[in-house]
Amino acid sequence: MITTRAPGKLYIAGEYAVVEPGHPAVLMAVDRFLTVELTEAEGRGMVHSSRYGRGPLTWVREGESIVVDHSPFDYVTAAIAIMDKLRAERGLAPRYFDLRISSELDDPSGLKFGLGSSGAVTVAIIDALNRFHGLELSTWQRFQLALLATISVSPKASGGDLAASTYGGWICYTAPDRSALLALLEGGSLAEVLDAPEWGICRIAPLGEPAGITMLVGWTGTPASTERLVDRVSRPEAEVSAQYARFLEDSREAVEELVAAWGTDPSAVLAVLRRCRRLLQGLGALRGSTIETAQLGALCDLAEAAGAAGKPSGAGGGDCGIVALPDGADAQEILSRWREVGILPLDLHVNPSETEGA
Ligand code: MEV
Repeated sequence: MITTRAPGKLYIAGEYAVVEPGHPAVLMAVDRFLTVELTEAEGRGMVHSSRYGRGPLTWVREGESIVVDHSPFDYVTAAIAIMDKLRAERGLAPRYFDLRISSELDDPSGLKFGLGSSGAVTVAIIDALNRFHGLELSTWQRFQLALLATISVSPKASGGDLAASTYGGWICYTAPDRSALLALLEGGSLAEVLDAPEWGICRIAPLGEPAGITMLVGWTGTPASTERLVDRVSRPEAEVSAQYARFLEDSREAVEELVAAWGTDPSAVLAVLRRCRRLLQGLGALRGSTIETAQLGALCDLAEAAGAAGKPSGAGGGDCGIVALPDGADAQEILSRWREVGILPLDLHVNPSETEGA
């Protein structure tokens, strides 16, 4: 049996702007994982999972390919399909396997926290199939394949979650032009797509530990719908495009300042995160969509009142908010106020390692 696991993620800054190629975001990988167990099978393959695919999901061999009989096309099938394309390109024979998927990223009772389970399942399956077929892919190639699988399901996804899930730790991420990659994928071999110059602007830079702050994470109790929100903000109509361009530039400037202050200047980190909160509020107003819901607003206000900085993490509209707490400030005060208004503190820390496997 091959076992791989991939961590979930949280956005610290730069969300939404990061969907535009070349615009940076900061993320952390968390110390909760999604696990994939792969065993060789005979006759047909199956995915066992309560959450991913409408399981059990099966697939069969057609000539030299493995065909997944599943609609809608989701992250699990996309990861299997891209790895099967690579296997076939490398001239390796198709082999059946069963996948068993389990996750700590959502609550066992079915609550979704928004910790990047779609990204983690993609990363963990690609790692498992890399080992199964003996492909000897580098970390970078596994990230590239995870992004190609993801954008075949969700073309606008930036891949920030995949970068955090693949590399671990604190990272600064900049996405490539995914529509250019999708166009290449239609015409070319995977080997050509993986070597294409279009990846040149994609950056995954480790940041190390932030100086003088601790991160707190609160869950609002409401899951968000990322796809709907991304759709709204990444298709600017003509009359809002100038303000959108300003948002992109302000976000870039804020993230660059955050990275510069990260290991040295906690008060600058706090100031930038407060600014990032205002930028997301402005973007929500521009698009007529609620990124900072009332619960996220309360989460951030209670943090700011206690001398910390808080902001929605990721798509907003629900899910989690993050708080940077300066050393010496009282975490308990924020956590107990959160509980009073129905915000659930999540006990999460950074996961420093790469995707792990055995
Ligand atoms: C969602 O978690 C973060 C967004 O920036 C979308 C993305 O990066 O794909 C809103």
